[in-house]
Amino acid sequence: MAKRVTKAVIPAAGLGTRFLPATKAMPKEMLPVVDKPAIQYVVEEAVDAGLHDVLMVTGRNKNALENHFDRATELEASLVQKGDTDRLEKVNYSTDLADMHYVRQGDPKGLGHAVLRAKMHVGDEAFAVLLGDDIIDSRDTLLDRMLEVQQEKNATVVALLEVDPSQIHLYGAAAVETTDADDVVRVTGLVEKPDREHAPSNYAIIGRYVLRPEVFEVLERTEPGKGGEIQLTDALETLAADESIAGGVYGVVFRGRRYDTGDRLDYIKAIVQLAVDRADLGPELRPWLREFAAGLDDAPASHEIVDEMTTTPADSLASPRN
Ligand code: G1P
Repeated sequence: MAKRVTKAVIPAAGLGTRFLPATKAMPKEMLPVVDKPAIQYVVEEAVDAGLHDVLMVTGRNKNALENHFDRATELEASLVQKGDTDRLEKVNYSTDLADMHYVRQGDPKGLGHAVLRAKMHVGDEAFAVLLGDDIIDSRDTLLDRMLEVQQEKNATVVALLEVDPSQIHLYGAAAVETTDADDVVRVTGLVEKPDREHAPSNYAIIGRYVLRPEVFEVLERTEPGKGGEIQLTDALETLAADESIAGGVYGVVFRGRRYDTGDRLDYIKAIVQLAVDRADLGPELRPWLREFAAGLDDAPASHEIVDEMTTTPADSLASPRN
């Protein structure tokens, strides 16, 4: 049995260009999903899985992230004065959530490079990596199961989701073999964002990993790959190809609810999906949505006029999220 994992690493240095101009002066991780910044869902997920030590890999213009998980004394004082305990609780919640640490990425050289920045903090232990673009519904379990498999196999574990083959070029794709457990596969190979024709399967890596510290040495010698960036997927491919390095790679197949906040359309879907299930918003939102959707059939396609003004053709092409 491997030692229990206690640390989570959250890369959050991306420029968020898909959400410009909203992200001109604000990190994309602070975009609200209903009424909570996307990043808070991810930190809550780590803490729920028992990972209280959280290292965020940030970059320039990311001060709002640190502030969100720190005291807000003026705001607190004003809420105390008003006796607004509900809101005070919301403000304090993110302050006390986890033991937060920060390191800057410096040059944005890719996800593998961001993870490598965690080397000093993580040391010689296995650790989890959670990507901020993916939100896993708190009613479903993924990270707990991944940690369990990591302990059992003492290997690297990635989260896999079966996606439509037309979408596989947006993800790291895994070649897999079945194991005795229905939700666990052995990963025999990995390719970062392959063309549909070259994808080994439609099993996509979603942004959750449990890694062994050996990954740092592998990352140090991983050459830039797709997009000229140091890819975590390429380092994991090295670990999958040679089990003697760190016990190989396994995948936990996730069949629960996952929300992608990495691009504008999925972000809008995520907000609607989460809001309809909320006790404070759902009861009013549901009937309104039904009425709105029914009305869509008759509505003129006014978006054609708006679209010409706000988007360029390149915007609608699928490209790596950042
Ligand atoms: C990253 C990884 C990719 C993975 C994806 C999951 O890509 O490089 O392998 O499938 O996250 O969200 P990104 O979406 O940051 O371009």
